[in-house]
Amino acid sequence: MPFSIQVTDPTKANELAKVMTDSRWVDPHWKILFEDGTTADHVVSETAQRLPYNLTRRQGKRHQMAVDHVTGEVVGTARWILPEHLRDPKFKTWPEARVPSPSIEDDEKFRKKFEDATDEEGRIKHLRWDLMEVRNTPLEEIDAKIVHDNGPFLTLDYLSTAPHYQRKGVGSALLQRGLEVADANNLSTYVTASPAGLKLYLNHGFEIVETFSLEYPDFGGTEPVVDYFMIRKPKQKS
Ligand SMILES: CC(C)(COP(=O)(O)OP(=O)(O)OC[C@H]1O[C@@H](n2cnc3c(N)ncnc32)[C@H](O)[C@@H]1OP(=O)(O)O)[C@@H](O)C(=O)NCCC(=O)NCCS
Repeated sequence: MPFSIQVTDPTKANELAKVMTDSRWVDPHWKILFEDGTTADHVVSETAQRLPYNLTRRQGKRHQMAVDHVTGEVVGTARWILPEHLRDPKFKTWPEARVPSPSIEDDEKFRKKFEDATDEEGRIKHLRWDLMEVRNTPLEEIDAKIVHDNGPFLTLDYLSTAPHYQRKGVGSALLQRGLEVADANNLSTYVTASPAGLKLYLNHGFEIVETFSLEYPDFGGTEPVVDYFMIRKPKQKS
């Protein structure tokens, strides 16, 4: 492998934000979530400001990044959510993907940067929140039912590979690390996938349990946005 997988490093916030933004900016259903005139550079810069605070605060989450061996460049990133029963630090679940707590000085610095990139209501700036609500409300309802009926899960919350580094196995490698943790804990894995990720998840044993398609012409959508709710059962230990 020309890259390695490591715990996400908050000091790499700019590179991480670029990977996350650039991989999704090509998707018209994602780009349209931002106010007119917002550029990818805006989104990268504000995401980078919020990232260190988010990474070091959410201890029920696990974060990994892929780094190119030769250039040292961040080329992919994944964020996972642990099920409630594995969050207690005394269980030491997946310690190698747990971002360490920052020093008091860093924590203060991260909080300040986060607040500078967040509006008065604590929300991400430049997002079209009316459209977010139209898009997310039905997804949240389906999600709640799936979690209730099939949980607990290890949830894949975010996966992205830098566009120039796609189709080299980064997405699979990041995904595989989480699946190993899920199997070791006899847990199902859950993801809400966009069409871009569908094939990757099917290749790794996920099955579609629900598909939701939404038209939103009143907000400028020209074609339906589709989301796949997918679950992978744990592999039995042999
Ligand atoms: C989805 C996503 C994370 C996949 O990342 P990736 O790093 O390209 O994933 P992989 O390289 O592991 O696999 C993708 C394809 O490359 C192929 N591949 C893997 N290694 C390869 C190699 N060395 N040479 C050629 N192809 C390779 C895989 O077989 C797979 O092919 P397939 O789609 O025909 O089955 C990436 O496309 C992305 O960031 N998309 C935008 C964000 C997004 O939609 N994320 C998922 C949301 S749910």
